[in-house]
Amino acid sequence: MAVTSIHGMWSTRLAFILAASGSAVGLGNIWRFPYAAGEYGGGAFVLVYLICVAAIGIPIMMAEIMLGRRGRQSPINTMRTLTAQEGRAGSWQVVGWMGIVTAFLILSFYSVIAGWALAYVFRAAAGAFNGIDGVAAGEIFASLVGDAERLLAWHTIFMAMVVLVVSRGVASGLEKAVRYLMPALFVLLVVMVIYAASAGDFAGAIDYLFAPDFEKFKGHAGEAILSAMGQAFFSLSLGMGAIMIYGSYLGRDASIARNSVIVASMDTLVALLAGLAIFPVVFANGLAPDSGPGLIFQTLPIAFGEMPGGQLFGALFFVLLVFAAWTSAISLLEPLVAWLVENLSFSRVRASILAGLTVWLLGIACLLSLNEWSGFTVFGKGILDLFDFLTANILLPLGGILIAIFAGWKMARASSLDELRLGEGLVYRAWRMLIRYVAPTAVMLVMLNALGILKLIGLD
Ligand code: PFF
Repeated sequence: MAVTSIHGMWSTRLAFILAASGSAVGLGNIWRFPYAAGEYGGGAFVLVYLICVAAIGIPIMMAEIMLGRRGRQSPINTMRTLTAQEGRAGSWQVVGWMGIVTAFLILSFYSVIAGWALAYVFRAAAGAFNGIDGVAAGEIFASLVGDAERLLAWHTIFMAMVVLVVSRGVASGLEKAVRYLMPALFVLLVVMVIYAASAGDFAGAIDYLFAPDFEKFKGHAGEAILSAMGQAFFSLSLGMGAIMIYGSYLGRDASIARNSVIVASMDTLVALLAGLAIFPVVFANGLAPDSGPGLIFQTLPIAFGEMPGGQLFGALFFVLLVFAAWTSAISLLEPLVAWLVENLSFSRVRASILAGLTVWLLGIACLLSLNEWSGFTVFGKGILDLFDFLTANILLPLGGILIAIFAGWKMARASSLDELRLGEGLVYRAWRMLIRYVAPTAVMLVMLNALGILKLIGLD
């Protein structure tokens, strides 16, 4: 077994935390979490989300880092090495392959949304938001997503940024970016929350987000719970090998359990802060919490337009959002690039360009679904919404189940004991119980329930 990765290693232990948080914290926290919570009525969704992070997310994150660090390669080859070591069927490599397909689908729409954020940097800086109300904010947003050419330009710029960093190697480019930008984003979010608390309907937002009202789940509880669980996978970057590959660059002496708890806590904190920054503005301006993927792009501009210095502040906020998206997008491309380097002896640059181009093409279909192709739907969803739904709610949880089963059942107890280095204590035993029983059954039940299968067999 290779002791270090051929792709390089994190230079310090902090670098892993920063990179993994960079992967986790992204559009998922600031763009997706508020709109998903809004779609399902707030508090109950948030509660289910928090339970999923703690009971399913953290154990699976530990498993992914553990597998990655033991395999020290791209997820596909890591799974190959580990199955050989553990004497298991090579077909477990499917975890890696599935992850690559999922990453492609996610990145293709992720890049389009990151493109919105890029576009908003310039709108904010130019003062386009000064004094606008909800209607005007809606119009600004609609005119952007209706314009395929503009979306294409921003999507192209964003993908080029991603390819640029990945082609230089994760450790050199990424570490530096994350070290300063993550804390900056955090500070700005806190300032936004303070502003929202003073100018918006803060009490209403707190109540909305933290007083669980399961009445609002009525009629679509299965779907709401699946969505909260899917959001946990998406937000923590779990189920497709992103955290696994970052784990493969992690030194042997780092504590996997501690790192996982830190990363998951930071990710959750950022999502909650985003909610607290957005919903006060939503309620104070009579906007609908369930306005869908456009939510933050239709609410935050109103706040920026009102607050003193909002022009500069708004531009800065969207710059940081772009950076958060950037560090996540990098982790989506990395598993495939590492595989191309390992198996086809591609240079890193060639591998990044090839992978980036493929995602870019797929992204065009996503952005066209917002305008020219808006009539084309599958299961009532356009391509972008479909990819979003399919990846977060189905593919990532499925990948998560497989990772949990492999780590909990297929890997020898001695191997996980050796890699997690927790001793035989309570933490290890709790992890093992969660990864063997709780995570796979919970994810399976939530998925079956949402697909209506429990109803069919009379269990619901
Ligand atoms: N966690 C990222 C976010 O919240 O924006 C998105 C993401 C990155 C999902 C990497 C999945 C992944 F593997």
